[in-house]
Amino acid sequence: MIKISPSILNVKTENIASKVKKLDAAGADYIHIDVMNGTYVDNISFNSDIVKEIKKITSKVLDVHLMIKPIKPHLEEYINAGSDIITFHPEVEENPMEIIKFIKKENVQTGIALHPKINILEYEELFTEVNQIIVMTVIPGFGGQQFIDTQVKKIEDLCRLRKKKDYKFKISADGGINDISGKKCIKSGADILAIGSFLLTKPETEFDKIINSFK
Ligand code: DX5
Ligand code: ZN
Repeated sequence: MIKISPSILNVKTENIASKVKKLDAAGADYIHIDVMNGTYVDNISFNSDIVKEIKKITSKVLDVHLMIKPIKPHLEEYINAGSDIITFHPEVEENPMEIIKFIKKENVQTGIALHPKINILEYEELFTEVNQIIVMTVIPGFGGQQFIDTQVKKIEDLCRLRKKKDYKFKISADGGINDISGKKCIKSGADILAIGSFLLTKPETEFDKIINSFK
């Protein structure tokens, strides 16, 4: 069944704890935490402190999406903070395999996120190692952007390749997910939807209904 990973990127800091508790109770599977520090993208959002804080209030999978560069100097910090999955953009490191191995050695799940401009075959050597591949369906950097339709084909291609080569990674779609784009991603083979504004701008009383509408 499809897993829902609400992205709290646009939630005000003072409301994060209460929103996470509500999302947890409403049946979210993961909590998607978008980390930006003005390097890989211009925006600045959360750092590892938020991961630590969220870890204290939920036992849901903490799906940490690092939009920073470089990754290596920050890894221990995010591992120690309690991340369950650490996903990074492989083009920011010369040796992404080394990063993946480091994370795995610490018993944390790993993922790579593919920017819309990146072709899936560029990183196929990592596909046997990762637990998830995030297909970016917007340009990384902000919540609330419009879904990029051409990325649906990337999800389909990844899904086909996974079947052919018996890869085990899960496919997550991240960015601009709403009722329509979300269904397209599911149909194309996505296993996880990271959903920000479509869910988080709605009243908390509707969280469970919206999450369940994808299941
Ligand atoms: C974009 C982030 C996404 C995004 C999701 O850089 O990785 O997780 O915030 O938010 P929406 O669903 O509003 O696009
Ligand atoms: Zn994200």
